Amino acid sequence: MESKEPEPSFSSLSLSSTRWWSEDTVAIVTGANKGIGFAMVKRLAELGLTVILTARDTTRGHKAVESLEGLGLHVHFFCLDVSDPASIKTFAAWFGQKFGALDILVNNAAVSFNDINENSVEHAEAVIKTNFYGAKLLIEALLPMFRRSASVSRILNISSRLGSINKVRNPKIKQILQNDKLSEEHIDGVVSMFLENVKSGTWMNQGWPEIWTDYAVSKVALNAYSRLLAKRYEGCGLSVNCFCPGFTQTSMTRGKGTHTADDAAGVGAMLALISPEELPSGKFFVGFNPIINSKL
Ligand SMILES: NC(=O)c1ccc[n+]([C@@H]2O[C@H](COP(=O)([O-])OP(=O)(O)OC[C@H]3O[C@@H](n4cnc5c(N)ncnc54)[C@H](OP(=O)(O)O)[C@@H]3O)[C@@H](O)[C@H]2O)c1
Repeated sequence: MESKEPEPSFSSLSLSSTRWWSEDTVAIVTGANKGIGFAMVKRLAELGLTVILTARDTTRGHKAVESLEGLGLHVHFFCLDVSDPASIKTFAAWFGQKFGALDILVNNAAVSFNDINENSVEHAEAVIKTNFYGAKLLIEALLPMFRRSASVSRILNISSRLGSINKVRNPKIKQILQNDKLSEEHIDGVVSMFLENVKSGTWMNQGWPEIWTDYAVSKVALNAYSRLLAKRYEGCGLSVNCFCPGFTQTSMTRGKGTHTADDAAGVGAMLALISPEELPSGKFFVGFNPIINSKL
């Protein structure tokens, strides 16, 4: 995913003239008990969609739902741990039975175990399993349920500019990920190579991203997979884009950041709700003022 060659800014996009959705439009947000995910659920519910707030912890999830109810917003809840394939399977079965059709999936759930200036890879496996495979397995489980109507179904993967392809310094890995014939096996291979480097203690010299390396690799993989999916579903009623919300004040950044989760979610919701006529696919949206988008 290149963040250079910016294309036209989307900062002029507004929701006012483009209301294509209704209360029958169904959105799922993962990792939504707090932070940007919670704020995304709030914004989408305010805008009148049917929203399913998911969280890995039932108590935390219910607490989030209650706080939205306190604001007069009704959302649905189901427990979903994206790092657990059994949990994904249970959720997909429940969703299929209760709702049947899906319009918007926001893959937001993610972990990082590092403080801002740290770069430990102690939890690399959990990071990759949650941030990359969590999103991927959930997408696979829900793919048959996307409505793919005239309003165009959409997947918005919450990614990070730390996972831009230009953060990868190893030319061979870069080449694999940028290849036009990129396959899921190629992405899995890159991720496995990273985890092997971690196990053998050689990861520092292999040209992986320098900042929050395990997290960055998880997002590199998520971006590459998004590009692959966007290409696969081109013209088939399903759009796949990534969004980096920028440095946002959440638990992940220990409260540091240039803006609030509500600010980030305002932009995220706007991107998730781009009108079917304007909706791109295979794009990486970065930043706020202006929002730049580049090819995945
Ligand atoms: N904050 C930033 O500056 C920033 C910048 C770029 C990108 N992002 C991205 O924005 C997204 C949201 O992050 P955030 O800043 O809002 O962080 P956050 O406040 O830490 O929220 C992360 C959410 O993900 C959930 N989660 C973690 N592991 C999960 C799992 N296995 N299954 C389901 N949910 C899980 C967490 O649940 P628990 O409460 O149970 O832990 C929490 O609800 C992430 O994708 C992140 O990578 C954030």
